[in-house]
Amino acid sequence: MSNVEEKLAKSLTASSTELIPYLPYLLKDLWELGSTPKDIQSLIAKHIRVTRNTKVLDLACGKGAVSVKLAKEFACRVKGIDIMPDFVTFAKSKAQEHGVGEFCEFVVGDINEAVLLEKDYDIVILGAVGDVLGSPVDTVRKLGNTIRPQGYMFIDDAYATGENSEHPSRKAWLELFHNAGLDLIDELSITDDDLEAISAYNQSRILVRANELKAMYPDKANIFDDYIRCQQEECDELGSEITGVTWLLQKREPV
Ligand SMILES: C[S@@+](CC[C@H](N)C(=O)[O-])C[C@H]1O[C@@H](n2cnc3c(N)ncnc32)[C@H](O)[C@@H]1O
Repeated sequence: MSNVEEKLAKSLTASSTELIPYLPYLLKDLWELGSTPKDIQSLIAKHIRVTRNTKVLDLACGKGAVSVKLAKEFACRVKGIDIMPDFVTFAKSKAQEHGVGEFCEFVVGDINEAVLLEKDYDIVILGAVGDVLGSPVDTVRKLGNTIRPQGYMFIDDAYATGENSEHPSRKAWLELFHNAGLDLIDELSITDDDLEAISAYNQSRILVRANELKAMYPDKANIFDDYIRCQQEECDELGSEITGVTWLLQKREPV
C-alpha cells in the first residue's frame, strides 16, 4: 500500500486504507470535513485586503467548504486540490449552487505534487490535513514555496497540551514558523462548545451511514465499527491532549 494512500486514510481518521472506497459514503452528509470556514473568513476579514485579483490555493480542499465560502464572501479566485475525485465533484457542484463557479477551480490531484508546481499565491490554506506533506517543518517549507513574499498561510492543525501527543507544543510550532521566515499574525483555537457541537453532529451523521454500510457489507462490519471508534478517539484527544488551532502566518520579505 502506498504512503500516499496511508496518509490519505489517516487524514480522514481511518485506521486502514481498506476504508478509502467507503469514505465518500461515510461522509456523504457532511460538507465541512475539517476546518471551520467561518474562522478563516473572520481572520481574512480582520487582517487581509482581498480583491478580485487575490489568488487563493486550498490544498487538500476536501468538499470545498472553505474554498466556496471564501469565493462567495470575498469574490476572490480559489483553486482547490484534493485527491478524492468524489469530493472534487461535490465541491464543483457546491460552487455552482452558491453562484461562484467562475471564481473556483477544483481539480483532482496529490498535493505533494501540487506544492512543486503551484507558485505566487496570495494565500495558501492547509486545513486539517495532518502529515500529508511530511513533518511540520517540511509542511511549512513546502507551503511557503507556493506563496509570494508577504503572502499569507493558513494552517489548521493542533498543538499538544498534554505530555503524550505526537503533535508539537505551541512553543515548538511558533519556533518553527519563525525559523521558516513566517510571522504569526493571528490564531484562533477551537472552543470546547464548538468542538462538542461539531463532533456530536458529525458523529451522528457518520454513525447512520456506517450502519447502512454494515447492512450492505456485513463481512466488513469491523472496518466500519473501527472508523466510528477512531472518530471518537480523535474527539477525545482534541478535548484533552491537544488543542485545535487555525494559525494565520505571513511570509517575510527576503532580506
Ligand atoms: C480532514 S479532510 C480536510 C478537508 C478540507 N481541507 C477541510 O478542512 O474541509 C483531509 C483531506 O485531505 C485530502 N488528502 C489526503 N491526502 C491527500 C493528498 N496526497 N493530496 C490531496 N488531498 C489529500 C483528503 O482527501 C481529505 O479531503
